[in-house]
Amino acid sequence: MCGIVGYIGDRDVSSVLIVGLERLSYRGYDSSGISVISEGELSFWKKSGKIHELSKIIDGLNIKGSLGIGHTRWATHGIPNDINSHPHLDKSKKISIVHNGIIENFLDIKEGLIKEGYVFRSQTDTEVIVHLVDKHYKSNLVQALAAACKHLKGSYGIAMISELDPDKIIVARSGSPLIIGKGQSENFVSSDINTILPHTKDVIYLEDNQFGVITKDDITIYNNELTKIDAVLQHINWDPVQSEKGGHDHFMHKEIHEQPAVVRRIISKYVDSNGSITFKSVKDVPLEDVSRFIIQSCGTSWHAGLIGRYLLENYAKTPSEVDYSSEFRYRRMISKGKDMVLAISQSGETADTLAGIREAKSNFFPIISFVNVKNSSIDRESDAVIYSHSGQEVGVASTKNYISQLTTLYLFSLYLGVIKKELTPEQAKSYIDELNKIPDYIESILAQEETIKTLADKYYLSNQFLFIGRGINFPSALEGALKLKEISYVHATGYAAGELKHGPIALIDSKLPIVCIAPNTSTYDKMLSNIQEVKSRKGKTIIVATEGNKEIADYADDIIYIPKTIEDLSPLLVSIPLQLLSYYIAIKRDCDVDQPRNLAKSVTVE
Ligand code: AGP
Repeated sequence: MCGIVGYIGDRDVSSVLIVGLERLSYRGYDSSGISVISEGELSFWKKSGKIHELSKIIDGLNIKGSLGIGHTRWATHGIPNDINSHPHLDKSKKISIVHNGIIENFLDIKEGLIKEGYVFRSQTDTEVIVHLVDKHYKSNLVQALAAACKHLKGSYGIAMISELDPDKIIVARSGSPLIIGKGQSENFVSSDINTILPHTKDVIYLEDNQFGVITKDDITIYNNELTKIDAVLQHINWDPVQSEKGGHDHFMHKEIHEQPAVVRRIISKYVDSNGSITFKSVKDVPLEDVSRFIIQSCGTSWHAGLIGRYLLENYAKTPSEVDYSSEFRYRRMISKGKDMVLAISQSGETADTLAGIREAKSNFFPIISFVNVKNSSIDRESDAVIYSHSGQEVGVASTKNYISQLTTLYLFSLYLGVIKKELTPEQAKSYIDELNKIPDYIESILAQEETIKTLADKYYLSNQFLFIGRGINFPSALEGALKLKEISYVHATGYAAGELKHGPIALIDSKLPIVCIAPNTSTYDKMLSNIQEVKSRKGKTIIVATEGNKEIADYADDIIYIPKTIEDLSPLLVSIPLQLLSYYIAIKRDCDVDQPRNLAKSVTVE
């Protein structure tokens, strides 16, 4: 999704901006642009397509600048073309703005501005901001930006430069991340910490309704009344994440293969040498009193939440409900005083999940979040955080972070079970022993990669798939279908197998591949009946089953075996062949696996 970079200092400005844009590119984008001030004069270049299209038009121009801003755009308002790309400029082309987020009332503002004689070049919501700044400008740019922001409804992270005050980058934030990096006689701006960390580890996270004025040597932060406030300079003590493919063709492939190591890492972080679970970050949270969990998240993180519900109810005997963040945030929030909200997010920046946290907080729910990206907005705004420790996930399709969410939720549920005295420490240890076996089991599934690739060769021309599962593996079916559709653009639906006969069974014919998730769990017999229903209607079954199960092979067109584990850990194993199947189908269909069309890694708009 959209990304912002900015730089002021003595380095080659355009190069710093382009490298910054490249570092943002994993988030998903469809155009890019930069704007630079050189000897007091503002210039800009923008282009649809990949960043190398932008580089092509600026290569050889020998741009000499003292400061600049850049942007990767993920289209929301207006198609991805050159004109809609950022930066956007005022009528005299003296003010340049880049923006992340969505201005919800832009049509009303635009109508008013047109009546006042403003001419719009693009279809974007962003363009209203720059015209509003122009309208409110008297002699001070930050005052003009603050006045403009008073009209905006929605979310924004904004960086602005102008010939009218050519030695400053001005930034604003409301609901969309904006970080300032402090260097030695140089400063940086970005919406993503990973763009700043290669240059400096001293950063200021702009809070909502704050403004920043950045010169080469100074950073001044203001509140929304434009009163100067003391900025909190934080020193980040971790390194920028490595984003190399390490010999793999795609990040997704690399990340699928990192999963055994991810599970081992999480165990080492949260299980001590005595085999006891320690979550230091939640030790002061009165978990024993919680009578209901409300899990809210999006996409794959929502699927992890669905599985989390089974785990919390099974081990901690605590009623739990799960909602999409985009629905949860608009629901009536009724707290009986002992409810707790659990938010799950890889990026920690998902707009709906963040909004869900804010709504829940304002209704006095305590919040624990499961987050991968440290210092993200969700990390900073939650009462306590449990990190997923999966390392940077670059592929837009979540794989290793899903596994880490399942692993942390499993450990958290056991931890809670012990606290609530629903499990003895010994029982918890026996469940951890099972978890300890999972990395080896995943490795054994990865060793079947060639077989799964052959299945992809066989089925890749199918334009629709059905995924079915039951119980704790119903969410696995949803996740399998999501993975396939997002990277291969094949229509895939996940269904609870028991629901087949209430509708989707009508889809089944001799051409439809049905991925049946049928490991040995408490719902196995029921699942076997559902598979028989599918087979008797000539559906093509690809069955995921437990090693040693010969009986089920009679109903399989193709079969993938996974090692035997306990029911609550089966989703960790089931997801591996489904990830590989999606990956190879996408490759066969010649799709951009790491950056699928229309998708963004971090969904920072509603
Ligand atoms: C995962 O494959 C998806 N790209 C997407 O559904 C993702 O899980 C969702 O947008 C939530 O993101 P988050 O975990 O960063 O909040």
